[in-house]
Amino acid sequence: MSKQLLLEAGVALSLVFNPFSQLAEEPTTGQRKQVENVAHRGATGYAPENTIAAFDLAVEMKADYIEIDVQRSNDGELVVIHDTTVDRTTDGTGQVGELTFEQLRSLDAGSWYGEKFAGEHIPTFEEILDRYRGKIGILVELKAPELYPGIEEQVADALLERNLDKPQNEKIIIQSFNFTSMKMMDQLLPRVPIGVLTSNRADTTLDALQEFSTYADWFNPSYGIVTEELVNDGHYLGMKIGSWTVRSQEAADFLFEMGVDAIITDCPDYVDPRN
Ligand code: G3P
Ligand code: CA
Repeated sequence: MSKQLLLEAGVALSLVFNPFSQLAEEPTTGQRKQVENVAHRGATGYAPENTIAAFDLAVEMKADYIEIDVQRSNDGELVVIHDTTVDRTTDGTGQVGELTFEQLRSLDAGSWYGEKFAGEHIPTFEEILDRYRGKIGILVELKAPELYPGIEEQVADALLERNLDKPQNEKIIIQSFNFTSMKMMDQLLPRVPIGVLTSNRADTTLDALQEFSTYADWFNPSYGIVTEELVNDGHYLGMKIGSWTVRSQEAADFLFEMGVDAIITDCPDYVDPRN
């Protein structure tokens, strides 16, 4: 029997007999499993993404984590913005990595969303760590790290300087679509949980999951590729599952049913209706 078949047979058997996988599939009636409520780029459903306004609102809404996208300016400052250009979410134009920090900081990152958010700036990574540590968890995505050689060391240094690399690290997780970068982060910060992001079904095979589990604590798929089997396989291999991006109550309810551990959402109130 091939290694692949052996692995598949082993996982299938263990899922039949593994009491944890059975529990994951059968939540008690009327009760929901405790799920981490992650505000995607902040409370993006109600404020401009990756701004202090959106992150403050996520805290106010009692989310468990904010998710942030980290890139780097031309002169080496770590900044929080999703796209690799500033065009969509600011009043400027150009590549993030080709603009100086002063140029990036002078942009208005709020008006595109609504006049009442005029004057919001692109935050720095260090500003976010200092403002929110201890108040809310921070899910740090390295966005396109292949564009920013050495960004892994720089992110690690910022966390180490603040003593945020410890097991009781005030809830810091680092994730990326770039798996090589995440392997590197795991080497640099072995005590910080690492996540891999994907929307590709090819990354959900047992072989792929097993490889991720050698360095990742979280497997974070887009919700379109989530199945109960995938959640159970990830759990069996010791990983938690966080899924994205929830923009409707139906999508949140689907992920609750699938038994995921974290829901990454524009609207934290879909995950915790108390807010
Ligand atoms: O945290 C998951 C999610 O942020 C990944 O997609 O494009 O919103 O960064 P994206
Ligand atoms: Ca992100």
